[in-house]
Amino acid sequence: MKGVKWYLVVIFAILITLVLFALAYALTGMRPDSGKSRLTAEEARAAGKCVQCHRRETPAIVETFEKGPHAEYINCFDCHKPLPGQEVMEHKGFEVVRVVTAGNCAECHAEEYRELTRSRHGAPAWTAVMGKEPFTQAQYDYAYRYHPEAMDRGPNALGQLEGVGAVENGCGTCHEIGAPNADGSVGNCNKCHLRHYFSVEEAREPETCGACHLGPDHSQIEIYEESSHGIVYRTKRGDFNLKVEPARLTTEDMPAPTCSTCHLSGLNGGGMTHDVGERLSYYLFAAISAERPGGMANRERMKELCLNCHAATHVEEFYADADLTLTATNDRVAEVKAIMDGLYADGVLTPEPFDEPAEFEYFDFWHYFVRTAKHGAYMVGADFVQWHGNYELLLRLHEFRDIDRELRGLE
Ligand code: HEC
Ligand code: HEC
Ligand code: HEC
Ligand code: HEC
Ligand code: HEC
Ligand code: HEC
Ligand code: HEC
Ligand code: HEC
Repeated sequence: MKGVKWYLVVIFAILITLVLFALAYALTGMRPDSGKSRLTAEEARAAGKCVQCHRRETPAIVETFEKGPHAEYINCFDCHKPLPGQEVMEHKGFEVVRVVTAGNCAECHAEEYRELTRSRHGAPAWTAVMGKEPFTQAQYDYAYRYHPEAMDRGPNALGQLEGVGAVENGCGTCHEIGAPNADGSVGNCNKCHLRHYFSVEEAREPETCGACHLGPDHSQIEIYEESSHGIVYRTKRGDFNLKVEPARLTTEDMPAPTCSTCHLSGLNGGGMTHDVGERLSYYLFAAISAERPGGMANRERMKELCLNCHAATHVEEFYADADLTLTATNDRVAEVKAIMDGLYADGVLTPEPFDEPAEFEYFDFWHYFVRTAKHGAYMVGADFVQWHGNYELLLRLHEFRDIDRELRGLE
C-alpha cells in the first residue's frame, strides 16, 4: 500500500457506498410495495405525476377525488398500486392496477371489509347468480361459516337460460357487489361509495341503494319513496346533514331514516355496521319466509334503532302487524306450491325449470307479489302491501286453481 495516500482510500470507500445506496434506492423504489403502509419517496413522486397528467387527460377524476375525503390523506397510487395476484398494467412508466378492488380498500379499511364479506352483500350475492364455482376454497370456506344456506349452490337456472349477455349486463351489474377478485378478496366497495368521491354522504342517500333495490321483485326504493320516512326525507332534505362522520351521527343530522340508517348506520352512539344482515329477522326474499339464525336478537337491534324516534308501543304494534302479512303470504305460497307440486308429481309438468307457462306464473306469484307484500309491510309501504301485493295474490290464487283444472284436462 506504499505510495497510496490513506485519505484517498477513505474518499474512494465513501464514494462506493454512496453509489451502492443510490443503486439500491433506484431499484427498490421503482417497485410499488403493497405491504407498506407509508409511501416511499418514489411513490409520492408518482402520485404527483398521476394528478398532473390526469388533470389534463381526465379532469373529472381528479376533481371528484379532490372533493372527496381521501385527498387530504392519500393519493392516486395508494389505491391503484397492485396487490399480489392483481393484473398489473404498465402505464406511463408506472405499474398500476386498473380495477381497484375491495382488497385494495381493505389495506386501510379492514373492519369495513370484514363486515361486508360476512354479510350477504359478500359472496352470497354472487353465488345467487353464478353458483359456488367462481370462488376459491378459502373464499368459499369463509362465507360458508356465516351463510351455509347460500353458498352450496350451482348457477341460477334463469340466468343460464337467458344467456351470458343477460347475466353480464343484468344480474351481474347488481350482484357483483359480492363477486370474487383476482387478489383473493371478495366484493366491490365502490357500488355504494362511488368513484372518485368515496364518501359516506353518497352512501347514505337512498338513491344509491335504489340502483339495485328496485323493481317488482325487490321494490325497496319505491316503498321507501311512498313511506312517511321517504316523505320527511324529501320534504325536509335541508334539515339533514349527511356528511357527518359515522361515529357522531345523531337524530339531529337525520330526523327521518334513509335505507342506510335502518340497515347500516349507528344513530346517537349506536354502532355502525357493514353487515346489512345484522338487524334482519326473516328471509323475506324467500318464497316461504323462515326465521334467520339469531333472528329475534337481530330484530331487537333494529327496534333499538326505531326507539330513537318512536315510542315502544308504536314499534311493537308495527312489527306485530307486519308479522301478520308474513304469515298470510307464507300460507298463500304454501297453497299454490301444493298445486304445483301435485302437477310435477303427476307428470303434468316436466321437471325442467322455466319451460312451461305455469312455471313463470308461479315465479311471478312469489318472486313479485309475495315479496312486495312483505317488503311493504316491514317498510311502511301500504300501497305495496295492498294493490301490488295482497290483491294480486288473491287474484292469482284463483287463476292457479283454474290452471290446475285446465292442465289436468278437467275443463
Ligand atoms: C403522462 C400522462 C399520465 C400519467 C403520468 C398517468 N396517466 Fe393514467 N392515463 C393517462 C391517459 C391518457 C389515460 C387514458 C388512456 C386511454 O384512454 O386508453 C390513462 C388511463 C389510466 C387508467 C385507466 C386505464 C384503463 O385502461 O382503464 C388508470 C387506472 C390510470 N390511468 C391511473 C394512473 C395512475 C394511478 C397514475 C400514477 C401512477 C397514472 N395513471 C399516471 C395518462 C397518464
Ligand atoms: C380510494 C381509492 C382510489 C383512489 C384514491 C383513486 N382511485 Fe382511481 N379508481 C378507483 C376505483 C375503485 C376505480 C374503479 C375500478 C373498476 O371497478 O373498474 C378507479 C378507476 C380509475 C380510472 C378508470 C376510470 C374510468 O372511468 O375510466 C382511472 C383513470 C383512475 N381511477 C385514475 C385515478 C387517479 C388519476 C387518481 C388520483 C387523482 C385515482 N384514480 C385515485 C379507486 C381509487
Ligand atoms: C391508503 C389508505 C386508504 C385506502 C387504500 C383507502 N382509503 Fe378510504 N380512507 C382513508 C383515510 C385515511 C380516510 C379518512 C379518515 C377516516 O375516515 O378513516 C378514509 C376515509 C374513507 C371513507 C369515509 C368518507 C367520509 O365521507 O367520511 C370512505 C367511505 C372510504 N374511505 C372508502 C374507501 C374505499 C371504498 C376505498 C377503496 C376503493 C378506500 N377507502 C381506500 C384511507 C384509505
Ligand atoms: C350493486 C347493487 C347493490 C347496492 C348498491 C346495494 N345492494 Fe343491498 N343487496 C344487493 C344484492 C344483490 C342483495 C342480495 C344478496 C343475496 O344474494 O342474498 C342485497 C341484499 C341486501 C339486504 C339483505 C341482506 C340479507 O341478509 O338478506 C339488505 C338489507 C340490503 N341489501 C341493503 C342495502 C342498503 C341499505 C344499500 C345502500 C346503502 C344497499 N343494499 C345497496 C345489491 C345491492
Ligand atoms: C337491479 C339489480 C338486480 C338485478 C338485475 C338482478 N338482481 Fe337478483 N337481487 C337483487 C337484490 C337487490 C336482491 C335482494 C332482494 C331482497 O333481499 O329483498 C336480489 C336477490 C336475488 C336472489 C335471492 C337471494 C339469494 O341469494 O338467493 C337471487 C337468487 C337472485 N337475486 C338472482 C338473480 C339472477 C339470477 C338475476 C339475473 C337473471 C338477478 N338476480 C338480477 C338485485 C338484482
Ligand atoms: C351497501 C352499501 C355499502 C357498501 C357495499 C360499502 N359501504 Fe362503506 N358505508 C356505507 C354507508 C351507508 C356508510 C355510512 C354509515 C353511516 O351512516 O354512518 C359507510 C361508511 C364507510 C366508512 C366510514 C367509516 C367511519 O367510521 O368513518 C368507510 C371507511 C367505509 N364505509 C368503507 C367501505 C369499504 C372499504 C367497503 C368495501 C369493503 C365499503 N365501505 C362498502 C355503505 C356501504
Ligand atoms: C325504518 C327503517 C327502514 C328503512 C328506512 C328501510 N328499511 Fe329495509 N327493512 C327494514 C325492516 C324492519 C325490514 C325487515 C327486517 C326483518 O326481517 O325483520 C327490512 C327489510 C329489508 C330487506 C329485505 C331483506 C330480506 O330478508 O329479503 C331489504 C333488501 C331492505 N330492507 C333494503 C332496504 C332499502 C334498499 C331501503 C331504502 C330504499 C330500505 N331497506 C329502507 C327497515 C327499513
Ligand atoms: C331517525 C328517526 C326515525 C327512525 C330511526 C325511524 N322512524 Fe319511523 N318515522 C319517523 C318520522 C319522522 C316519521 C313521520 C311521522 C309522521 O308520519 O307523522 C315516521 C313514521 C313512521 C311510521 C308511520 C307512522 C304513521 O302514523 O303513519 C311508521 C309505521 C314507522 N315510522 C315505523 C318505524 C319503524 C318500525 C322503525 C324502525 C325499524 C322506524 N320507524 C325508524 C322517524 C323515524
